[in-house]
Amino acid sequence: MLSLLLMASCTGAPDDAEAPEPAPGVQVAPFGEVDGVPVELFTLANAQGMEIRLTNYGGIVTHLFVPDAEGTPGDIALGYDTLEGYLEQTPYFGSLIGRYGNRIGGASFTLDGETWTLAANDGPNHLHGGERGFDKVVWAAEPFEETGRRGVRLAYTSPDGEEGYPGTLDMEVTYTLTDENAFEIDYHATTDKATPVNLTQHTYFNLAGVGNGDILDHELTLLADRFTPGDEMLIPTGELQPVEGTPFDFTEPTAIGARIDADDTQIAYGGGYDHNFVLNGEAGALRLAARVADPVSGRVMEVHTTEPGIQFYTGNFLDGSITGKGVSYERRSGFCLETQHFPDSPNQNAFPSTILRPGEAYTSRTVYSFDVLP
Ligand code: BGC
Repeated sequence: MLSLLLMASCTGAPDDAEAPEPAPGVQVAPFGEVDGVPVELFTLANAQGMEIRLTNYGGIVTHLFVPDAEGTPGDIALGYDTLEGYLEQTPYFGSLIGRYGNRIGGASFTLDGETWTLAANDGPNHLHGGERGFDKVVWAAEPFEETGRRGVRLAYTSPDGEEGYPGTLDMEVTYTLTDENAFEIDYHATTDKATPVNLTQHTYFNLAGVGNGDILDHELTLLADRFTPGDEMLIPTGELQPVEGTPFDFTEPTAIGARIDADDTQIAYGGGYDHNFVLNGEAGALRLAARVADPVSGRVMEVHTTEPGIQFYTGNFLDGSITGKGVSYERRSGFCLETQHFPDSPNQNAFPSTILRPGEAYTSRTVYSFDVLP
Protein backbone atom coordinates (compact mmCIF):
# COMPACT_ATOMS: atom_id res chain seq x y z
CA MET A 1 0.00 0.00 0.00
CA LEU A 2 2.74 2.41 1.00
CA SER A 3 4.70 1.63 -2.16
CA LEU A 4 1.56 2.22 -4.24
CA LEU A 5 1.08 5.62 -2.59
CA LEU A 6 4.72 6.47 -3.20
CA MET A 7 4.39 5.49 -6.83
CA ALA A 8 1.30 7.62 -7.15
CA SER A 9 3.06 10.65 -5.73
CA CYS A 10 6.12 10.09 -7.95
CA THR A 11 3.97 10.10 -11.04
CA GLY A 12 2.00 13.12 -9.78
CA ALA A 13 0.39 15.82 -11.86
CA PRO A 14 2.67 17.33 -14.49
CA ASP A 15 1.45 20.79 -13.53
CA ASP A 16 2.81 20.48 -9.99
CA ALA A 17 4.33 23.90 -9.27
CA GLU A 18 7.21 22.21 -7.44
CA ALA A 19 8.06 19.95 -10.40
CA PRO A 20 11.78 19.51 -11.08
CA GLU A 21 13.28 21.83 -13.65
CA PRO A 22 12.75 20.54 -17.19
CA ALA A 23 15.63 20.22 -19.64
CA PRO A 24 16.21 23.32 -21.79
CA GLY A 25 13.96 23.29 -24.83
CA VAL A 26 10.24 22.97 -25.49
CA GLN A 27 8.01 20.27 -24.07
CA VAL A 28 4.42 19.70 -25.13
CA ALA A 29 1.71 17.97 -23.07
CA PRO A 30 -2.06 17.66 -23.40
CA PHE A 31 -3.91 20.28 -21.32
CA GLY A 32 -7.55 19.30 -21.92
CA GLU A 33 -10.29 20.22 -24.39
CA VAL A 34 -12.21 23.37 -25.26
CA ASP A 35 -15.53 22.68 -27.04
CA GLY A 36 -14.14 19.28 -28.09
CA VAL A 37 -10.90 20.77 -29.43
CA PRO A 38 -7.77 19.46 -27.69
CA VAL A 39 -5.42 22.12 -26.32
CA GLU A 40 -1.85 21.79 -25.18
CA LEU A 41 0.50 23.06 -22.53
CA PHE A 42 3.93 24.12 -23.77
CA THR A 43 6.86 24.36 -21.39
CA LEU A 44 9.74 26.57 -22.51
CA ALA A 45 12.86 26.19 -20.40
CA ASN A 46 16.41 27.52 -20.49
CA ALA A 47 19.53 26.48 -18.59
CA GLN A 48 19.30 29.54 -16.29
CA GLY A 49 16.33 28.16 -14.35
CA MET A 50 13.68 30.17 -16.17
CA GLU A 51 10.59 28.39 -17.40
CA ILE A 52 7.45 29.64 -19.14
CA ARG A 53 4.36 27.46 -19.38
CA LEU A 54 1.68 28.51 -21.84
CA THR A 55 -1.35 27.08 -23.51
CA ASN A 56 -2.72 27.68 -26.99
CA TYR A 57 -6.13 28.27 -25.37
CA GLY A 58 -6.18 32.06 -25.28
CA GLY A 59 -2.39 32.22 -25.60
CA ILE A 60 -2.42 32.10 -21.81
CA VAL A 61 0.83 32.13 -19.85
CA THR A 62 -0.01 29.83 -16.96
CA HIS A 63 3.31 29.81 -15.10
CA LEU A 64 6.47 31.89 -15.15
CA PHE A 65 9.33 30.47 -13.08
CA VAL A 66 12.10 33.02 -12.54
CA PRO A 67 15.16 32.68 -10.29
CA ASP A 68 15.36 34.93 -7.21
CA ALA A 69 18.53 36.53 -5.85
CA GLU A 70 19.60 33.13 -4.43
CA GLY A 71 19.06 31.49 -7.81
CA THR A 72 15.93 29.66 -6.68
CA PRO A 73 13.18 29.67 -9.32
CA GLY A 74 9.69 30.66 -8.18
CA ASP A 75 6.41 31.05 -10.06
CA ILE A 76 5.62 34.77 -10.43
CA ALA A 77 2.45 34.58 -12.60
CA LEU A 78 -1.05 34.52 -11.11
CA GLY A 79 -3.27 31.89 -12.68
CA TYR A 80 -4.34 28.27 -12.45
CA ASP A 81 -2.66 24.88 -12.69
CA THR A 82 -5.46 23.44 -14.81
CA LEU A 83 -7.46 24.43 -17.88
CA GLU A 84 -10.73 24.22 -15.91
CA GLY A 85 -9.78 27.27 -13.87
CA TYR A 86 -9.37 29.38 -16.98
CA LEU A 87 -12.63 28.08 -18.44
CA GLU A 88 -14.61 28.77 -15.28
CA GLN A 89 -13.53 32.25 -14.22
CA THR A 90 -10.58 34.46 -15.00
CA PRO A 91 -9.86 38.18 -14.89
CA TYR A 92 -7.69 37.62 -18.01
CA PHE A 93 -4.88 35.88 -16.05
CA GLY A 94 -1.91 35.53 -18.42
CA SER A 95 -4.07 36.04 -21.52
CA LEU A 96 -3.37 37.22 -25.01
CA ILE A 97 -5.82 40.09 -25.53
CA GLY A 98 -7.56 41.36 -28.68
CA ARG A 99 -8.91 42.38 -31.10
CA TYR A 100 -8.78 45.56 -29.01
CA GLY A 101 -7.01 45.45 -25.66
CA ASN A 102 -8.45 47.86 -23.08
CA ARG A 103 -11.67 49.89 -23.41
CA ILE A 104 -13.65 51.35 -26.27
CA GLY A 105 -16.11 53.95 -24.96
CA GLY A 106 -19.80 53.34 -25.61
CA ALA A 107 -18.83 49.99 -27.19
CA SER A 108 -18.87 51.56 -30.63
CA PHE A 109 -16.73 53.50 -33.07
CA THR A 110 -17.07 55.11 -36.47
CA LEU A 111 -14.57 54.23 -39.17
CA ASP A 112 -14.60 55.67 -42.70
CA GLY A 113 -18.16 56.90 -42.08
CA GLU A 114 -19.54 53.57 -40.89
CA THR A 115 -20.51 52.92 -37.26
CA TRP A 116 -19.62 49.58 -35.67
CA THR A 117 -21.23 48.25 -32.51
CA LEU A 118 -19.34 45.95 -30.16
CA ALA A 119 -20.28 44.01 -27.03
CA ALA A 120 -20.77 46.22 -23.96
CA ASN A 121 -19.02 43.89 -21.50
CA ASP A 122 -17.76 46.55 -19.04
CA GLY A 123 -20.79 48.63 -18.13
CA PRO A 124 -21.70 50.52 -21.31
CA ASN A 125 -18.15 50.07 -22.67
CA HIS A 126 -16.23 47.41 -24.53
CA LEU A 127 -13.28 45.72 -22.81
CA HIS A 128 -10.51 43.40 -24.07
CA GLY A 129 -12.17 42.31 -27.31
CA GLY A 130 -15.66 41.48 -26.05
CA GLU A 131 -17.52 38.40 -24.83
CA ARG A 132 -15.19 35.97 -26.55
CA GLY A 133 -11.97 37.81 -27.27
CA PHE A 134 -8.69 36.27 -28.38
CA ASP A 135 -8.14 35.15 -24.77
CA LYS A 136 -10.96 32.60 -25.20
CA VAL A 137 -10.21 31.09 -28.60
CA VAL A 138 -7.96 28.17 -29.48
CA TRP A 139 -4.85 29.26 -31.40
CA ALA A 140 -2.89 26.99 -33.73
CA ALA A 141 0.52 26.42 -32.17
CA GLU A 142 3.91 25.48 -33.56
CA PRO A 143 6.85 25.06 -31.16
CA PHE A 144 10.35 25.94 -32.36
CA GLU A 145 13.90 25.75 -31.07
CA GLU A 146 16.80 27.88 -32.30
CA THR A 147 20.26 28.55 -30.91
CA GLY A 148 19.87 30.39 -27.61
CA ARG A 149 16.06 30.61 -27.85
CA ARG A 150 12.95 28.51 -27.99
CA GLY A 151 9.27 29.30 -28.24
CA VAL A 152 5.84 28.80 -29.72
CA ARG A 153 4.29 30.45 -32.76
CA LEU A 154 0.57 30.99 -32.23
CA ALA A 155 -1.73 31.70 -35.15
CA TYR A 156 -5.38 32.65 -35.30
CA THR A 157 -7.64 34.02 -38.01
CA SER A 158 -10.42 36.15 -36.59
CA PRO A 159 -13.36 36.00 -39.00
CA ASP A 160 -14.94 39.13 -40.49
CA GLY A 161 -17.58 40.32 -37.99
CA GLU A 162 -16.22 38.37 -35.02
CA GLU A 163 -17.29 40.22 -31.85
CA GLY A 164 -18.62 42.95 -34.14
CA TYR A 165 -15.28 43.98 -35.67
CA PRO A 166 -14.88 44.56 -39.40
CA GLY A 167 -12.50 42.46 -41.50
CA THR A 168 -10.81 39.09 -41.38
CA LEU A 169 -7.74 39.48 -39.18
CA ASP A 170 -4.85 37.05 -39.73
CA MET A 171 -2.49 36.93 -36.79
CA GLU A 172 0.74 35.37 -35.69
CA VAL A 173 1.99 35.88 -32.16
CA THR A 174 5.34 34.41 -31.14
CA TYR A 175 6.32 33.75 -27.53
CA THR A 176 10.07 33.20 -27.10
CA LEU A 177 12.23 32.43 -24.06
CA THR A 178 15.88 33.36 -24.55
CA ASP A 179 19.01 32.16 -22.76
CA GLU A 180 19.25 35.69 -21.28
CA ASN A 181 16.01 35.22 -19.27
CA ALA A 182 13.93 37.34 -21.63
CA PHE A 183 10.33 36.58 -22.54
CA GLU A 184 9.83 38.10 -25.98
CA ILE A 185 6.42 38.61 -27.58
CA ASP A 186 6.14 39.44 -31.28
CA TYR A 187 2.77 40.30 -32.77
CA HIS A 188 1.96 40.38 -36.48
CA ALA A 189 -1.41 40.89 -38.16
CA THR A 190 -2.95 41.69 -41.53
CA THR A 191 -6.54 42.40 -42.50
CA ASP A 192 -8.81 42.45 -45.55
CA LYS A 193 -10.87 45.46 -44.28
CA ALA A 194 -9.93 48.47 -42.17
CA THR A 195 -10.23 47.53 -38.48
CA PRO A 196 -8.93 48.65 -35.11
CA VAL A 197 -6.24 46.35 -33.68
CA ASN A 198 -4.60 46.63 -30.27
CA LEU A 199 -3.05 43.38 -29.04
CA THR A 200 -1.53 42.92 -25.62
CA GLN A 201 -0.52 40.42 -22.96
CA HIS A 202 -2.27 40.36 -19.60
CA THR A 203 0.02 38.44 -17.23
CA TYR A 204 -0.41 39.40 -13.57
CA PHE A 205 3.05 39.42 -11.97
CA ASN A 206 4.04 39.10 -8.35
CA LEU A 207 7.85 39.19 -8.27
CA ALA A 208 7.85 37.84 -4.69
CA GLY A 209 6.19 34.70 -6.03
CA VAL A 210 2.53 33.72 -6.22
CA GLY A 211 1.07 33.43 -2.71
CA ASN A 212 3.75 35.63 -1.13
CA GLY A 213 1.62 38.65 -0.29
CA ASP A 214 0.80 41.78 -2.23
CA ILE A 215 2.86 43.83 -4.67
CA LEU A 216 2.77 47.11 -2.75
CA ASP A 217 6.47 47.05 -1.76
CA HIS A 218 7.64 46.41 -5.31
CA GLU A 219 9.51 49.43 -6.63
CA LEU A 220 8.33 50.65 -10.00
CA THR A 221 9.94 52.93 -12.53
CA LEU A 222 7.79 53.97 -15.49
CA LEU A 223 9.44 55.89 -18.29
CA ALA A 224 6.37 57.99 -18.84
CA ASP A 225 6.10 61.74 -18.29
CA ARG A 226 2.36 61.72 -19.04
CA PHE A 227 -0.69 59.49 -18.65
CA THR A 228 -4.20 59.44 -20.08
CA PRO A 229 -6.66 60.32 -17.29
CA GLY A 230 -10.12 58.84 -17.61
CA ASP A 231 -13.69 59.33 -16.49
CA GLU A 232 -15.19 57.27 -13.65
CA MET A 233 -15.44 54.28 -16.02
CA LEU A 234 -11.80 54.70 -17.10
CA ILE A 235 -12.57 55.99 -20.60
CA PRO A 236 -9.86 58.55 -21.47
CA THR A 237 -10.84 62.20 -21.43
CA GLY A 238 -8.44 62.72 -24.35
CA GLU A 239 -6.00 64.72 -22.28
CA LEU A 240 -2.32 63.74 -21.94
CA GLN A 241 -1.70 64.85 -18.38
CA PRO A 242 1.82 65.36 -16.97
CA VAL A 243 2.51 62.93 -14.11
CA GLU A 244 4.68 65.45 -12.29
CA GLY A 245 3.31 66.26 -8.86
CA THR A 246 0.71 63.45 -9.00
CA PRO A 247 0.59 59.87 -7.60
CA PHE A 248 1.23 58.80 -11.21
CA ASP A 249 4.83 59.99 -11.21
CA PHE A 250 6.97 56.84 -11.34
CA THR A 251 9.79 58.48 -13.28
CA GLU A 252 12.00 57.69 -10.24
CA PRO A 253 11.81 54.24 -8.57
CA THR A 254 8.85 54.35 -6.14
CA ALA A 255 7.04 51.69 -4.14
CA ILE A 256 3.78 50.78 -5.89
CA GLY A 257 1.95 51.17 -2.57
CA ALA A 258 3.42 54.55 -1.63
CA ARG A 259 0.52 56.60 -3.08
CA ILE A 260 -1.94 53.91 -4.20
CA ASP A 261 -4.63 55.14 -1.80
CA ALA A 262 -3.89 58.84 -2.25
CA ASP A 263 -6.78 61.29 -2.14
CA ASP A 264 -6.87 61.75 -5.90
CA THR A 265 -9.79 61.56 -8.32
CA GLN A 266 -7.95 59.39 -10.85
CA ILE A 267 -6.83 56.98 -8.13
CA ALA A 268 -10.45 56.85 -6.89
CA TYR A 269 -11.74 56.04 -10.40
CA GLY A 270 -9.29 53.13 -10.74
CA GLY A 271 -9.54 51.90 -7.12
CA GLY A 272 -5.75 52.30 -7.32
CA TYR A 273 -3.73 52.23 -10.53
CA ASP A 274 -5.62 51.17 -13.64
CA HIS A 275 -4.35 53.70 -16.14
CA ASN A 276 -2.58 54.02 -19.44
CA PHE A 277 0.78 55.77 -19.36
CA VAL A 278 2.19 57.59 -22.38
CA LEU A 279 5.64 56.13 -22.83
CA ASN A 280 8.53 58.48 -23.50
CA GLY A 281 10.51 58.14 -26.70
CA GLU A 282 9.60 57.15 -30.20
CA ALA A 283 6.83 54.54 -30.60
CA GLY A 284 7.94 51.88 -33.06
CA ALA A 285 11.42 51.72 -31.52
CA LEU A 286 12.02 49.05 -28.90
CA ARG A 287 12.80 51.06 -25.76
CA LEU A 288 12.72 50.67 -22.00
CA ALA A 289 9.21 51.29 -20.68
CA ALA A 290 9.26 50.02 -17.10
CA ARG A 291 11.38 48.42 -14.42
CA VAL A 292 10.03 46.68 -11.33
CA ALA A 293 12.15 45.42 -8.44
CA ASP A 294 11.08 43.33 -5.47
CA PRO A 295 13.43 44.12 -2.56
CA VAL A 296 12.61 40.84 -0.76
CA SER A 297 13.17 38.20 -3.47
CA GLY A 298 15.61 40.43 -5.33
CA ARG A 299 13.82 39.75 -8.63
CA VAL A 300 13.87 42.55 -11.19
CA MET A 301 11.75 42.77 -14.32
CA GLU A 302 12.27 45.18 -17.20
CA VAL A 303 9.73 45.84 -19.93
CA HIS A 304 10.81 47.02 -23.36
CA THR A 305 8.23 47.73 -26.04
CA THR A 306 7.60 49.30 -29.41
CA GLU A 307 4.13 50.43 -28.25
CA PRO A 308 3.27 54.06 -27.40
CA GLY A 309 1.53 53.17 -24.12
CA ILE A 310 1.35 50.81 -21.17
CA GLN A 311 -1.60 50.02 -18.89
CA PHE A 312 -0.45 49.78 -15.29
CA TYR A 313 -3.07 47.82 -13.35
CA THR A 314 -2.60 46.86 -9.70
CA GLY A 315 -5.14 44.05 -9.37
CA ASN A 316 -7.63 46.34 -7.62
CA PHE A 317 -10.57 44.17 -8.63
CA LEU A 318 -9.10 40.98 -7.15
CA ASP A 319 -10.86 40.36 -3.85
CA GLY A 320 -9.80 36.94 -2.63
CA SER A 321 -12.81 35.21 -4.18
CA ILE A 322 -10.75 33.43 -6.85
CA THR A 323 -8.41 30.61 -5.88
CA GLY A 324 -5.77 29.17 -8.20
CA LYS A 325 -2.55 27.23 -7.62
CA GLY A 326 -3.75 26.79 -4.00
CA VAL A 327 -3.69 30.55 -3.43
CA SER A 328 -6.63 32.92 -3.03
CA TYR A 329 -5.93 35.99 -5.11
CA GLU A 330 -6.31 38.95 -2.79
CA ARG A 331 -6.63 42.57 -3.79
CA ARG A 332 -3.37 43.89 -5.24
CA SER A 333 -1.63 40.50 -5.12
CA GLY A 334 -0.49 41.01 -8.70
CA PHE A 335 0.19 43.80 -11.17
CA CYS A 336 -0.07 44.01 -14.96
CA LEU A 337 2.00 46.07 -17.36
CA GLU A 338 0.04 45.76 -20.60
CA THR A 339 1.92 47.29 -23.53
CA GLN A 340 -0.56 48.83 -25.93
CA HIS A 341 -1.95 51.76 -27.87
CA PHE A 342 -4.07 54.09 -25.76
CA PRO A 343 -7.58 53.08 -24.64
CA ASP A 344 -10.49 54.23 -26.79
CA SER A 345 -8.20 55.27 -29.66
CA PRO A 346 -10.87 54.49 -32.30
CA ASN A 347 -12.88 57.38 -30.79
CA GLN A 348 -9.95 59.69 -30.07
CA ASN A 349 -8.56 61.32 -33.19
CA ALA A 350 -5.64 62.90 -31.35
CA PHE A 351 -4.33 59.53 -30.09
CA PRO A 352 -1.94 57.42 -32.23
CA SER A 353 -4.09 55.48 -34.69
CA THR A 354 -4.98 51.84 -34.08
CA ILE A 355 -6.54 51.36 -37.52
CA LEU A 356 -5.00 48.61 -39.65
CA ARG A 357 -5.83 48.73 -43.35
CA PRO A 358 -5.55 46.12 -46.09
CA GLY A 359 -2.02 45.95 -47.49
CA GLU A 360 -0.49 47.13 -44.19
CA ALA A 361 1.09 44.95 -41.50
CA TYR A 362 0.51 45.37 -37.77
CA THR A 363 3.74 44.63 -35.92
CA SER A 364 4.46 45.05 -32.26
CA ARG A 365 7.16 43.77 -29.95
CA THR A 366 7.39 43.56 -26.16
CA VAL A 367 10.14 42.01 -24.07
CA TYR A 368 9.80 41.17 -20.37
CA SER A 369 13.33 40.46 -19.14
CA PHE A 370 14.40 39.23 -15.72
CA ASP A 371 17.43 39.77 -13.52
CA VAL A 372 18.18 40.15 -9.83
CA LEU A 373 19.23 43.08 -7.67
CA PRO A 374 23.02 43.38 -7.25
C1 BGC B 1 -8.19 46.69 -16.96
C2 BGC B 1 -8.87 46.55 -15.63
C3 BGC B 1 -9.55 45.22 -15.60
C4 BGC B 1 -8.51 44.16 -15.82
C5 BGC B 1 -9.10 42.80 -15.85
C6 BGC B 1 -7.17 45.62 -17.08
O1 BGC B 1 -6.52 45.71 -18.30
O2 BGC B 1 -7.62 47.96 -17.11
O3 BGC B 1 -9.81 47.58 -15.41
O4 BGC B 1 -10.19 45.01 -14.39
O5 BGC B 1 -7.85 44.38 -17.04
O6 BGC B 1 -10.19 42.76 -16.66
